Amino acid sequence: MLFPVFFMLGICLVPAHLTPTEHLGSSFLQQCFEEAKKIVDDAYTYSRAESLRRVRKDVVSPHDALRLLKQPRGETRTAVRAADYMAQTLHLVQQRVHRIHKRSLNATDLLSGEDLEKLAMLTGCATQVRPPPCSSTQNLDKYRTITGVCNNRMKPRLGASNTPFTRWLPAEYDDGISEPRGWQPNRTFNNFILPLVRQVSNNILSTTDAGVVNDTEFSLMVTFFGQWNDHDLTFTPFSPSIRSFSNGINCDESCERTEPCIPIEIPPGDPRLPTGPDSCIPSFRSAPACGTGFSAYNFGGEPVKREQINALTAFLDLSQVYGSEPKLALSLRDLNSDGLMRVNDRFTDNGRELLPFHPLQVNMCATRKRVTNDPNATEVPCFIGGDTRVDENIALTSMHTMFLREHNRLARALKRLNPQWDSETIYQETRKIMGAYAEVFIIRDYLPHIVGDDAMRRLLGRYPGYNSNVDPRISNVFATAAYRFAHLAIQPVLGRLGPDYTQDRQFPSVPLFKAFFTPWRIIFEGGIDSLVRGLVGGPAKLNTQDHMMVDAIRERLFQFVQHLALDLGSLNMQRSRDHGIPGYNAWRKFCNLSEPRNQAELARVLNNTDLARRLLRLYGTPANIDVWLGGVAEPFVRGGRVGPLFACIIATQFQRIRQGDRLWYENPGVFSARQRAALSTATMSRLICDNTGITSVPRDVFSVISRRNRLVRCNNVRRLNLAPWRERRCTDFLENGSCPDLPPDPEFEEEHILNEFSGDEMDNELPV
Ligand code: HEM
Ligand SMILES: *[C@@H]1O[C@H](CO)[C@@H](O)[C@H](O)[C@H]1NC(C)=O
Ligand SMILES: *[C@@H]1O[C@H](CO)[C@@H](O)[C@H](O)[C@H]1NC(C)=O
Ligand SMILES: *[C@@H]1O[C@H](CO)[C@@H](O)[C@H](O)[C@H]1NC(C)=O
Ligand SMILES: *[C@@H]1O[C@H](CO)[C@@H](O)[C@H](O)[C@H]1NC(C)=O
Ligand SMILES: *[C@@H]1O[C@H](CO)[C@@H](O)[C@H](O)[C@H]1NC(C)=O
Ligand SMILES: *[C@@H]1O[C@H](CO)[C@@H](O)[C@H](O)[C@H]1NC(C)=O
Repeated sequence: MLFPVFFMLGICLVPAHLTPTEHLGSSFLQQCFEEAKKIVDDAYTYSRAESLRRVRKDVVSPHDALRLLKQPRGETRTAVRAADYMAQTLHLVQQRVHRIHKRSLNATDLLSGEDLEKLAMLTGCATQVRPPPCSSTQNLDKYRTITGVCNNRMKPRLGASNTPFTRWLPAEYDDGISEPRGWQPNRTFNNFILPLVRQVSNNILSTTDAGVVNDTEFSLMVTFFGQWNDHDLTFTPFSPSIRSFSNGINCDESCERTEPCIPIEIPPGDPRLPTGPDSCIPSFRSAPACGTGFSAYNFGGEPVKREQINALTAFLDLSQVYGSEPKLALSLRDLNSDGLMRVNDRFTDNGRELLPFHPLQVNMCATRKRVTNDPNATEVPCFIGGDTRVDENIALTSMHTMFLREHNRLARALKRLNPQWDSETIYQETRKIMGAYAEVFIIRDYLPHIVGDDAMRRLLGRYPGYNSNVDPRISNVFATAAYRFAHLAIQPVLGRLGPDYTQDRQFPSVPLFKAFFTPWRIIFEGGIDSLVRGLVGGPAKLNTQDHMMVDAIRERLFQFVQHLALDLGSLNMQRSRDHGIPGYNAWRKFCNLSEPRNQAELARVLNNTDLARRLLRLYGTPANIDVWLGGVAEPFVRGGRVGPLFACIIATQFQRIRQGDRLWYENPGVFSARQRAALSTATMSRLICDNTGITSVPRDVFSVISRRNRLVRCNNVRRLNLAPWRERRCTDFLENGSCPDLPPDPEFEEEHILNEFSGDEMDNELPV
């Protein structure tokens, strides 16, 4: 083990003469910061070099894949680095002070508020919390900022990218501040030790492909639309460091529990993974947010519990298309065009646009040789999109591709409609329409299938109007547990269907585990049409209590040939412990639901005695059940695909996202009444028709094809009426102020909905 030199250096040494009433002094702080910075910078540099080496040598393991997937980039990286500097500096201060002064010091005197402020400046944490200027020159009433800042005028960072998740219940860490739940060996909760997550996964989640039950109502589109939507809302980054800051141990070469390593221990008798003291699935903690997760007791203040960072905006704004940071957003645009997004300049999909390639030389997606066993196969880079997970699987990539094309289609149409608009206006107006699509599809089509009619009525009924006191931020439990419910609706196979919706002959359906990080399948295996037909033409997997998670993600996640594949079920539970998310009963209480205390009560809640027994054999008490597992074990609410607990958490989250968004599409003044009316008729089926070679679609793409939901020809699927976006500036044309006859354009023919609206709204169309 390469042991870094700087541990011996110890440049930040407590002044020997320090008495308990003296300040540590700013030069001491400065020195500790320098030392901490070196530790962090060295770890980052080392990790980057090590990652590059592995990718180049083609020895990328599944946990490398996850780590690279969760790498912070751009401003997220800056935020994470500032937090790492801060945490390490405080750690060193604490360590060094304690080394000299064994008795506990009253540290209000050691670190004054002023000192902490100075530290915040040095580390970069100050920039992370400084309120951004929301100047009126930015069109803030018309368009969303890329980062979501200034959506809320009073609290400009609410819902912005790269800010901490909110908590609906306080975190429960082992040390009260930062150590994961169950981190300390033999630590008990309600008198029971938490079971190993992998043991839980083996005993409760395991489902072979043969055991998969198909959903009789909902299509696989529902599943992947969920993932697509999640990537608009949540991304929890790791620290870039591959090794422990405190002792230099490489997280993937040791099973030691040392920050940021959080290894997943393998239980005895595991059917797939090797057991023993040195055997574990390497895993990494989510990065802390600035100035959280340290024991301020030692500095005389309140402890600040560790929080995690959400790299994305909380708003339904299609940030997975546009990016959540200005620099990325710009790089995704074609700045030499009329508001278009950049597309691939090397390949098309039968003439249709593909996502551009990622410029990085680290190519996670060079998987073709390995997967096809053809040493001569041509590799391609990863695609790039507004969210870094675009290549995670090819169904998701297809969604990215369709929405990218829709942007460009709309932008071209708007340019024809309003030739006078400049490139920026076209981009922003198009982006605004696209954001509204997301809002319409989620509330009208998607969520009712998930949370059921009852939760929809209670929490997401009629739009109540914008309320600046509603906090739109994503809650930690939503990202870490509730919205991961659909991991249990994933089929082991991605269907690829031909024009007649039967298996494509040339490029048949692919097992999911051979569809991770494989953009080459889209380029060389017939594009996205067959995949999209597979999504709308096949059923979702039904989550049943005895067939929960398919092996494709429980035993083969990110499997590239022989390496130790990951288990998504274990990861989900490990993640909630990493984030200190309270157990099942705490959340039942939060949602005003009963709190089962014993097997009989749990059996009633789950409507399943055997499952209750198996859960309690692992956990001892219902209170300790990891909330993700407890949530997905509940029987569905009526009409939905989650139980009462997740219906409550998910609907509550969307209620807040909707009501706390100043630029929600239904908030008066955001769109004109006619624009709103047009947007409310938008459908995914039309979006598919407009952006693929597919000529017939199920009218409702979220339901399985049936007598009630037949395939219809695209000609019969209603188009979005863009006429309300025509800017009326008649005085530019005629001096007498009357409008010239505009040339008829069939694409913009107004459908007969206009008479529903009074004529005076016609003048409110000016988006500029
Ligand atoms: C092939 C399909 C999918 C794969 C391979 C996949 C894989 C993953 C992985 C590896 C993680 C990170 C696990 C960790 O914490 O270490 C994750 C997180 C997550 N997944 Fe999935 N997932 C899939 C589909 C879905 C679907 C259908 C949904 C939901 C509706 C979903 C929702 C989420 C959410 C909300 C997170 C947390 C994201 C964050 O905040 O970083 N996933 N998924
Ligand atoms: C530390 O000192 C401050 C002021 O001198 C005092 O208010 C506080 O109670 C002391 N804290 C402890 C833990 O002794
Ligand atoms: C934890 O408990 C087990 C069984 O009771 C015991 O063998 C082990 O030594 C304990 N470990 C620690 C660190 O206390
Ligand atoms: C790969 O290419 C080499 C040289 O062109 C050829 O000899 C070999 O048979 C090819 N291998 C495969 C599997 O196609
Ligand atoms: C479930 O759906 C898949 C995809 O359409 C199909 O291949 C499979 O045969 C179905 N399974 C059952 C049991 O009907
Ligand atoms: C639980 O009930 C209380 C009191 O009626 C209510 O204020 C609260 O919003 C409910 N919680 C949830 C999550 O619905
Ligand atoms: C409870 O389970 C029984 C049999 O296992 C089933 O017939 C019944 O429909 C279930 N009830 C509910 C509300 O899910």
